[in-house]
Amino acid sequence: MRTPGTPAPSNSSVTHTANVLVIGADALSMGQIRETLGTEAALSNTATPFDDAMMVARKNRPNVVIASFDTEHEEAIRIAQQIRAELPKTVLVAIARRTDPDRMRAAMRAGYSEFIVLPEDSELLRQAVHEAVFNDTPDDDAGQVITVWGAKGGVGSTFLSVNLAAELSPVQRVCVLDMDFSMGDVAAMLDLEPSNTMAEVFKNLSRLDERMLNGQMAIHTSRVHVLAQPKTLEHRDEPSSDAVMKLLTTVAKSYQYVVLDCGSRVDDAALTAATVADRLLLVTTPDVLSVKNAWRRLQLLERLGIERSRISLVLNRVDRKAPLLSVPDIEQNLGCRVEAQISEDRVAMKAVNDGKLVRDVDRRSQVARDIEAFTGLITNGEVLHDKKASNSIFASIFKLGG
Ligand SMILES: Nc1ncnc2c1ncn2[C@@H]1O[C@H](COP(=O)(O)OP(=O)(O)O)[C@@H](O)[C@H]1O
Ligand SMILES: [Mg+2]
Repeated sequence: MRTPGTPAPSNSSVTHTANVLVIGADALSMGQIRETLGTEAALSNTATPFDDAMMVARKNRPNVVIASFDTEHEEAIRIAQQIRAELPKTVLVAIARRTDPDRMRAAMRAGYSEFIVLPEDSELLRQAVHEAVFNDTPDDDAGQVITVWGAKGGVGSTFLSVNLAAELSPVQRVCVLDMDFSMGDVAAMLDLEPSNTMAEVFKNLSRLDERMLNGQMAIHTSRVHVLAQPKTLEHRDEPSSDAVMKLLTTVAKSYQYVVLDCGSRVDDAALTAATVADRLLLVTTPDVLSVKNAWRRLQLLERLGIERSRISLVLNRVDRKAPLLSVPDIEQNLGCRVEAQISEDRVAMKAVNDGKLVRDVDRRSQVARDIEAFTGLITNGEVLHDKKASNSIFASIFKLGG
C-alpha cells in the first residue's frame, strides 16, 4: 500500500503536485478549477480545446485529465476512449455545471472516475486530484462489483445476493450493499439488526472514507459485511447517481467483492450499479412474466450501452422435473445464454424464513449445491476480469489494472 509522501507510480515526474490537463472548460469553470486545486496541481491558464487535447496529453502525460461535459459531451467521451487506450494510468474526471444522470452514466461508461458538478462539489474535485497523486490502492487490491438485479420482484435477488456473498467470504473481503430502496430485505435475510444503515452513509456522504464506511457495516457470522437499508421507510431520500457513485468508489477500495442487491427497481441507484458492475447478474424465474421483464431489462441495458459480455442471466427457482419454461425456450426468447440455474427448493424458503444461509440449513440440499456452482461463475469471472482488466469499465473507474 502506498502512503502519502511516496512518489506516485504515475507517468509524470512530479511527485507532490498533480500534472493536470483541463480540456474544453470555459473561463468561468477554469477559474473554479484553479481556485479549487490551488497549489495541488500544475495546470495551464486556459483550457485545451478538444481538438488539441490528444496531442497535448501525449506530450505532457498528465496524472489527471479534467474534461468539461457542458457543451461538447460527445467529444469528452471520445477523448476518454483515446486516453484510456494510450495513457491508461491517467485519471479521468468529468466536470459540468449541472447534474445530469444520463450524461453522468455515459461519462462513467467512457471511463471517467468522477462526474463533478462545479462549484458545488469542488471538494470532490480536490480529493480526486489528490488521490490521483497519492493513490495508495494497489491495482490488484480493488474489488469486483457484482450487481444483482431481478427481472421482477420476488425472483430471488436478495436470496442470491446474500448466499453468493457468503460463499465468497471465507477467502475474500466481501460486502453486500442493500440497494433496494423500497424493500431492504438484506438485513432480515441474514438476521441482522444493524445500528447503522445506508441512510447514515448518504447523510454523511461528504465525509465518507474507508474508515467511516467500515464503521457503518454490520458483520454477519459468515464474515460478510452488510450495509443495510433502514428498518423504516420514514426517511427515504433516494440517492442521486453521483451519491451512489461516490459510495461505490469508496466501497470498492475496501472489499474484494462488492455485491449489490438492486432488487428489481429501475432507478438511478440500480442503473448506476449496472453501469459500474464488472458482472451484472440478471435474475429471472422460469415463467412468462419474469422472462418478459428480463427481456425489457436487457433492452434497457443495451440502450445504456452495457455490453452483453458483462451480463449473466441467472435462472432461479427452477423445477428441474417440471419446468414452466424450458431453458432453450428462455435462451431463444432472450437471445442470451442461461449461465446459472438454482433449483426451487423448500430449504431456500426455510433459510429465508429463519434468517439463515442455505448452507447453514442444509449444506447438502440441491439449492446449496446450486449456489456453490453459481459462485464458480463469479470466481471464474475474476480470472476473466483480470485478463481483461484494461477493457473493464470498472477497472478504469476504480483504477484497476489500467
Ligand atoms: N431457489 C428458491 N427456492 C425456493 N424458494 C425461493 C428460492 N429463491 C427464492 N425463494 C423464495 O422467494 C422469496 C423471494 O426471494 P427474494 O430474494 O426476497 O426476492 P427479491 O429480492 O427478488 O424480491 C423468498 O422469500 C424465498 O422464500
Ligand atoms: Mg429483495
